[in-house]
Amino acid sequence: MDCILIYDFGGQTCQLISRRIRELGVYSEIVPHDFDPFQYSNHTIKGIILSGSPYSVREADAPKPHRRVFERGVPILGICYGLQVMAQLFRGKVERLEKQEYGRAPLQLLEASPLFEGVPNGFVSWMSHGDSVATPPSGFKIVAVSKEGIPAALEDRERSWYGIQFHPEVTHCEFGMKILENFSLRICGARKEWSMERYIETVRTQIQQRVGNSKVLVLISGGVDSTVTGALLLKCLDPNQVHLMYIDTGLMRKNETQEVGENLRKMGATHLHIIDASSRFLEALRGVEDPEKKRQIIGDQFIRVQEEEVGKLGITDAFLAQGTLYTDMIESGKGVGKKAQTIKSHHNVRSPLVEEKRAKGLVIEPLERLYKDEVRALGRELGLPPSIVNRHPFPGPGLGVRILGEVTEEKCRILREADAIYLEELKKRGLYDQIWQAFAVLLPVRSVGVLGDARDYRYVLALRAVVSQDGMTADVFDFPMKDLKEISSLITNAVPQVGRVVYDVSSKPPATIEWE
Ligand code: XMP
Repeated sequence: MDCILIYDFGGQTCQLISRRIRELGVYSEIVPHDFDPFQYSNHTIKGIILSGSPYSVREADAPKPHRRVFERGVPILGICYGLQVMAQLFRGKVERLEKQEYGRAPLQLLEASPLFEGVPNGFVSWMSHGDSVATPPSGFKIVAVSKEGIPAALEDRERSWYGIQFHPEVTHCEFGMKILENFSLRICGARKEWSMERYIETVRTQIQQRVGNSKVLVLISGGVDSTVTGALLLKCLDPNQVHLMYIDTGLMRKNETQEVGENLRKMGATHLHIIDASSRFLEALRGVEDPEKKRQIIGDQFIRVQEEEVGKLGITDAFLAQGTLYTDMIESGKGVGKKAQTIKSHHNVRSPLVEEKRAKGLVIEPLERLYKDEVRALGRELGLPPSIVNRHPFPGPGLGVRILGEVTEEKCRILREADAIYLEELKKRGLYDQIWQAFAVLLPVRSVGVLGDARDYRYVLALRAVVSQDGMTADVFDFPMKDLKEISSLITNAVPQVGRVVYDVSSKPPATIEWE
């Protein structure tokens, strides 16, 4: 398959570049900045993009691309730092600007360039740079400038090397997609071969070769990633080889267990193990109020139940399939990109089962090259219903971290009912798909209310709705007040234990998405 390689210099938009290229239908992969392109054998490299970076090329330890990038004989596009590093390597000059360019910047096109085919003169680009190219590298000429007269695009058409100072990958950049399309399709000649249908075909062969006749265990959480992993394995292997295990912790949303079970059966699951461990979890949580302790107890119980149940199945030599995504791989610095971030590591319980399988080389991660939106597209391609593929993320500890303070069966029931009304109303009102994550939180306080002539004390329920790209940062969803008020009434009317509803207006940071 044709592929565009994106070299990661640590820029925040590196992943965005890769996503945009894939949106064009061309496969792309992110590699570390010092990766030797002659070592790449997965696909056919048709072009290389050098990304932006938080570094200045003038710093001594600024990352440099592997020298063989320039010997590979394919078109190259340097974006921001990517352009500057090329300039510096090929006898150009990069200087710190007195006046820096950030945000919208109209560009003047000086002459025709294949990169700007179909892009009008004066289009508004998006800039974010302190350094600039003062002298173009040898062989390059300037083809666009900003209002300040600063070089915004350079080309060496003979070698098919291009450099742009702005960021075509961000949505604020007009004609950004057109420029990336010109580079990938016209200049590199990459074919649009990236589709989920094609992905299933590629991954099917890989999985079959790796697994052979062995069994595969998939731990299903009910979330999109593990459900799609399960459905993919059922499609690629004989369903008799695939064991799906789902542990009902008693901390699930309303009807979650039935829904997940029904959908996996529809996908052809024959070995579906739904374990009702709710009483064990609730028993272990009794009297515990501290959020960290609660998380730990839930994590420990999970591990214990998992081990017992896997032991009972007698498939100790089975492969273990996980729904790890491309973003998880990048965040954990596993082989792609260099910019390891550990923000999310605390979320994932280090299960001895996973560690053991990994040590034996028995872990398969068939979504490891996919972004979340691609996993959703894959789920659709596999025939999973929208209620599964479009569902909001749900944390492993479930309602356990959404019932503040002690978790009891009664509180689980109350929250489940209120949360179900909230989510159902969001769907009915066409709001659900505009939101990254929405849920209700049961607070450990009771507040005064009046019912008829009597005073009474009932629970306070908080509603949360955030918009986000990846859960790392989040903003409050701009909730229409009319809907909020109506949903509040519906909840207090239907759930008698709730007397007051509040809306959480905190962004992340400083708050987190979950309350505990
Ligand atoms: P926070 O609350 O840290 O959450 O802003 C960011 C994203 O991660 C989810 N989350 C978890 N997911 N296990 C998970 O699998 C966990 O322990 C966990 N805690 C938070 C959260 O729902 C949000 O999508």
